[in-house]
Amino acid sequence: MLFSFSKARPLFGLDIGSSAIKVVQLRETKKGYFLEKFGVKPLAPEMIVDGTVMDAGRVVETLKELLAEQKIKLKDVAISISGHSVIVKKINLPVMTEDELEESIKWEAEQYIPFDINDVNIDFHILGTSEGQDGQPQMNVLLVAAKKDKLNEYTSLVAEAGLTPLVVDVDAFAVENMYGINYDLQENEVVALVNIGASVMNINILKSSMSAFTRDISVGGNRYTETIQKELSLSYQDAEQAKLTENPEGVNPEALAAVMSAVNIEVAGEITRSIDYFKTTAMQENIDKVLLCGGAAKTRGLLTLLGERLGLAVDLANPFNRIEIDKKSFNIEQLQEIAPQAAVGMGLAIRRMGDR
Ligand SMILES: Nc1ncnc2c1ncn2[C@@H]1O[C@H](COP(=O)(O)OP(=O)(O)OP(=O)(O)O)[C@@H](O)[C@H]1O
Ligand SMILES: [Mg+2]
Repeated sequence: MLFSFSKARPLFGLDIGSSAIKVVQLRETKKGYFLEKFGVKPLAPEMIVDGTVMDAGRVVETLKELLAEQKIKLKDVAISISGHSVIVKKINLPVMTEDELEESIKWEAEQYIPFDINDVNIDFHILGTSEGQDGQPQMNVLLVAAKKDKLNEYTSLVAEAGLTPLVVDVDAFAVENMYGINYDLQENEVVALVNIGASVMNINILKSSMSAFTRDISVGGNRYTETIQKELSLSYQDAEQAKLTENPEGVNPEALAAVMSAVNIEVAGEITRSIDYFKTTAMQENIDKVLLCGGAAKTRGLLTLLGERLGLAVDLANPFNRIEIDKKSFNIEQLQEIAPQAAVGMGLAIRRMGDR
């Protein structure tokens, strides 16, 4: 969490993606989490471009409409950011107390961050201790730095819609939280979580339920749409439609299949490269499973291709796996259809102020 204000209060998860805003509200019961609200509202592609808010007015308007549609009364939200303005690094430091680290993190962080230290908000999470090369114990710390202008961009947008951002998280960690409440965590298991959105994909590899590697790559669903648009000379809207439809009218099916396959190869290649990099640097021989989420996780042929490339079972993550859902309040079929897009919002919805 990049900053927080006061004690735990109910809040909802708000995922402002570049292609759609997602809201998730949960209620915690004795039996587990119960889904109160879930809604998705698309944004026109020019409103947020590669994570930069280009038209705050229209984003706020869309957000307000979504809140009204979903009858969301809560004002407190958890939001998240991702992409180039966030740096996540695992660093090793001499063992110290959390208070001491709090004091010194800014100075410790300076050498790891490619931005001016005064331009970022810093957060950290102590992962544990291990033996350093010199035989001395060292502390493993997850360092998170986010550019203040990016934080301001999103927090002021949320404030303009009348909401209070109590928690600011990072997409990759929100997905990790979603996984944590929906799946059994196994000791020593290595799980790669890949959230493929419209403009960015977030990779978070967990080892024994702890983040061991994260990377954001600026490729996602937009790459398909843009390539279809160019190669098949379609408008952006028609290209997006062609991407989502099995046999779109007036589109050469072979040409479309060729583009889809070429971009699938590129996307699967990016994921495979990151996983290979992790395996080499972490001296990790095996990955146990790969779960995809985000809207573009459902891209035709991607799951299969990635499975082949990795020689592993690749599945879609289900953010509603262990969430109680009232069948009278939700259309279950429709919900499952858009479930992959709920991953970040779900992870945010379980955040409480100061909980980490
Ligand atoms: N069934 C589907 N098949 C292929 N692509 C899909 C499908 N459903 C949604 N998408 C794509 O998923 C993307 C939207 O997913 P998501 O809502 O996770 O992205 P986002 O959070 O808005 O983007 P980002 O996180 O990159 O800013 C779009 O590119 C959309 O075209
Ligand atoms: Mg997203």
